[in-house]
Amino acid sequence: MSVDNDLPVAAELRGDAVHRLLGHLRDETTDGFAAIERFSPADYRDPALAELERDRIFGAVPFIVAHGSEVAEPFDFVSVQLPRNNVIIVRQRDGGLRAFVNACRHRGAQLVEESSGRCRLFSCPYHRWSYDPDGSLRTVTLDGTFGEFDRAEFGLVRLPVEERHGFVWLIDDARAEIDVAAWLGPETDALLAGYRIEDLVSVTPHTFDRPTNWKIMQDGFLDNYHVKYAHPNTAGKVLHTNAVALKDFGRHFWFLAARKSIDRFLGESPGDAPMDKHVIESCFIAPNSMLLKHATHVELLTFRPHGADPGRSTMEMRIMAPTQAETGLDEDAWRARWEKNWHIMISIIHDEDFPILAGSQNAMFNQDTGPMLLGRNELASHLFRREIRRLVHGGSAE
Ligand code: FES
Ligand SMILES: [Fe+2]
Repeated sequence: MSVDNDLPVAAELRGDAVHRLLGHLRDETTDGFAAIERFSPADYRDPALAELERDRIFGAVPFIVAHGSEVAEPFDFVSVQLPRNNVIIVRQRDGGLRAFVNACRHRGAQLVEESSGRCRLFSCPYHRWSYDPDGSLRTVTLDGTFGEFDRAEFGLVRLPVEERHGFVWLIDDARAEIDVAAWLGPETDALLAGYRIEDLVSVTPHTFDRPTNWKIMQDGFLDNYHVKYAHPNTAGKVLHTNAVALKDFGRHFWFLAARKSIDRFLGESPGDAPMDKHVIESCFIAPNSMLLKHATHVELLTFRPHGADPGRSTMEMRIMAPTQAETGLDEDAWRARWEKNWHIMISIIHDEDFPILAGSQNAMFNQDTGPMLLGRNELASHLFRREIRRLVHGGSAE
């Protein structure tokens, strides 16, 4: 199995967290925040704030936009709508990646319509200028009549992109410089390294357009308090509610939640028994991603706004699984395994979470919603807000 993590630091982190989690389940407690916090609907409907988030978060720090296996071969590309730019990401001949604004430098026609493909030449549909996969302007149509200009200056506009831990990270601002390791910090970087996500393949990337603020969406998937109330017949049957053991890394954080199968260990210490089947291990990767590590695979959920619209977002969901060769399954059995996982996730998220979260967004547009509360038990959401506030209003990570 490729998804394991035997770094000593991670083993200690897991051991401590399992111990604490069992204590919480016995005592009906949870890791918590220092205080209840009030918040206002303006956080989810103010267009001026949404504009700051677009620029000071998505235009300033690295976030995950794909898994490397989605652009595996030279000249493979994906195109993706990000908060500030529509972007093409292209695997280069030398194995590196480049990202470009998906717009012709002549008069701005969109170069690529498809969400993915393979292309040795990007040819503009309007007047047929063409660009090499490295972004340089190759041909100018009827250039004898067009006039002289410096072609080197009119290649596709590049965005900072980096591949690390199997993921493609990007900062959605052409002027930014990217350093994913620095953004992650040593603890989160080591944790992700241990998951060896670069050895996995992305099986089912899927995009959902939601009529819901991206932070409400992200909160919904950091929330262990709602499980048995919003999902009584699905997730609530197999997962515990309102008990997490969390490790805060200052910006990113990591936490364990429990499956009910853990109950057999409530009366005694688990000793060296493997616990990975009895817990869900989650990593919040600021600013907008949630990585769930399961015994057999990894899931990634990402959330981002539509430009500066506070009421709309994109959620992307992908399963990263061991390759067919690694599992020893035949093609059909391998596909069937991940499709089954996918359908379980979709039936919960799409049918149960999405309508509730869209309803929350509607409530934020009420004129008299009144202030609302985030409980001490909702620790992950407090830490998410802490980071968003810091990025939008300034200050450094502790
Ligand atoms: S807009 Fe692309 S060639 Fe004219
Ligand atoms: Fe949920």
